[in-house]
Amino acid sequence: TVYVVDNGAQYAQLIARRVREAGFYSEIVPHSIATDDLLERRPAALILSGGPSSVYEDGAPQVDPNLLTAGVPVLGICYGFQSMAAALGGTVDKTGEREFGHTDVEITGGILGTPDSASVWMSHGDAVSVAPEGFTVTATSKGAPVAAFEDAERRLYGVQWHPEVRHTPGGQALLERFLHEGAGLTSNWSTGSIIEEQVARIRAQIGDSKVICGLSGGVDSAVAAALVQKAVGDQLTCVFVDHGLLRAGEREQVERDFVAATGVKLVTVDDSAVFLDALIGITEPEEKRKTIGREFIRSFERAARLVSEEEGSVKFLVQGTLYPDVVESGGGEGAANIKSHHNVGGLPDDLQFELCEPLRELFKDEVRAVGRELGIPEAIVGRQPFPGPGLGIRIIGEVTRERLDVLRRADLIVREELTAAGLDQDIWQCPVVLLADVRSVGVQGDQRTYGHPIVLRPVSSEDAMTADWSRVPYDVLATISRRITNSVPEVNRVVVDVTSKPPGTIEWE
Ligand code: XMP
Repeated sequence: TVYVVDNGAQYAQLIARRVREAGFYSEIVPHSIATDDLLERRPAALILSGGPSSVYEDGAPQVDPNLLTAGVPVLGICYGFQSMAAALGGTVDKTGEREFGHTDVEITGGILGTPDSASVWMSHGDAVSVAPEGFTVTATSKGAPVAAFEDAERRLYGVQWHPEVRHTPGGQALLERFLHEGAGLTSNWSTGSIIEEQVARIRAQIGDSKVICGLSGGVDSAVAAALVQKAVGDQLTCVFVDHGLLRAGEREQVERDFVAATGVKLVTVDDSAVFLDALIGITEPEEKRKTIGREFIRSFERAARLVSEEEGSVKFLVQGTLYPDVVESGGGEGAANIKSHHNVGGLPDDLQFELCEPLRELFKDEVRAVGRELGIPEAIVGRQPFPGPGLGIRIIGEVTRERLDVLRRADLIVREELTAAGLDQDIWQCPVVLLADVRSVGVQGDQRTYGHPIVLRPVSSEDAMTADWSRVPYDVLATISRRITNSVPEVNRVVVDVTSKPPGTIEWE
C-alpha cells in the first residue's frame, strides 16, 4: 500500500486516486498518525500531501524525521515538500513571492527527467531556499529557488508543485516515475484484482447467510449488488423501492437490464401510492426530503420482512459506501448541513443487519470500471448522479401525479437531446425542474396559453461540492426548448439556470 499522508489539503484524495490510476493500491492517513503506527503497516511508499499551513506556524503538521529515515521511499508535495525540507535541516522562507496557478519551472534532472522547462500548477507562499544536506536540487522557478529536490540514495523526493492536478501536464508521469523508479515498485492494482479480492472478502464475511441489498438505480448500489451476487449468488436478494418519483424508464432499466446482466434475484415494491399520499400538501423542501426519507425506510423495512419470510432470516445488508465517504466521515466534523441528503442506501442503524460494504475502498471511477468488467449495462454504470428523493425535489411546489407526469416527459426529452449531442461526458448532470406554482402567458397556434416554466440546470463539476453551469451549445438548447414546448402542452417556457455552485446548489430543493 502507498500511504498518502493528509496535511489538510483538499488534494489528498486526488493524490490517492492518481496513485491508483498508476496501478498501486493507496490509502489516506491523517498527518497526526504516529510514526510507529504508520511504519507498522509496512508502507510501500509515502506521499506527503500539500496543506494550508506554513511550516513554522504553531500547530502546523510536522513530519517526524524518523519517518523520513526509516528506509521507506517518500515523495513530498507542496507543503509536504517544505515539511520534509524543514525536518531534515533545510531552510523554508517566506519569500514574499506567492506563486499561484500555471508557473514555469526549469528542470535540471534527476527523477524529473531531462533538463527542460515545464509548466506546472503551483500554489504556495513559502518556499524552500536551501535543500537539506545530501539532496540535489532538481528544479527551480522564479518564486522557488528550490522547486524540487531529491536524495536518490535514501529514496527521498519532493516537488513544490502539484503533480496530482490535471493542470500540471506530465504530473501523472511524474507520480509514476516516483513509484516505479524512485520507489522501485511494480504495479499490482487493477480492476481484475479488485474484483477477485472483494469477492473473496465478501465470501469470508457472509459465509452461507442471507443478504439483502437496496437498489436505487444508481451506479454504487448496482455495482455493490453485482459484486455480492458474484460472491454468494442466490443468497442475495435485491430490493427496489419504486417511490413514484423515478424518471421515465428507470424502473424498467433495473427490472430488465440489470437483472439480465447480473442474474440477481429482485423484489420490486411499488409503493408510489404510499409516497404520493404522504407528500400531499407538502411544499417545503426539507419537509419533502424528510417525508421521502421516512417513507423509504418504512418501505424498505416492509420489503426486508417479506424477504426474510420467504428466504429465511436475513443477516447482512449491502451498502454502496465509497472510499471518499469513509475518509470524510473520519475527518469531516462540523460540516454545515446544507440539505438533509437522503441517500437511498442510507438506512438507520436500528435495522437489525450487519453491514457489507464492498466498495468501501474504492473511488467512483474504480466502481464504474468494476461495474463494466462485471457486465453491467453502460446506461447504469455511466449514469449521472440522480438524487435519492428523485423528481420529488425537482417539482417546486406540491408533488402530484399529474405534475410528475409533466416533468417526466420534459426530462426524457432533455436526456435524449443531451445524449444525442454527445454531451453526457462534459456535463456532470442536468436536473430538469418544474416550477409548478409559477404560470406565465404564452401563445401557441393563435391560442393564449397559461402554462408552467421548465428550468434546465446543466452543470459541470468534479465532485458536486462546487459546480459551474455548463455552456450547452445554443442549437442543442433550441432543440430541447422546441421539443418540450411542442410535445408537453402544460409547459410554455423553457429557461436555463446560469448560476454556479456556490451560491446556487445543483438541485433546486
Ligand atoms: P446539491 O443540490 O446539494 O447536490 O448541490 C449535490 C449532489 O448531490 C445530489 N443530491 C442527492 N443525492 N440523495 C442523493 O443520493 C439526496 O438526497 C440528494 N440531494 C442532492 C445532487 O443531484 C448532486 O449531484
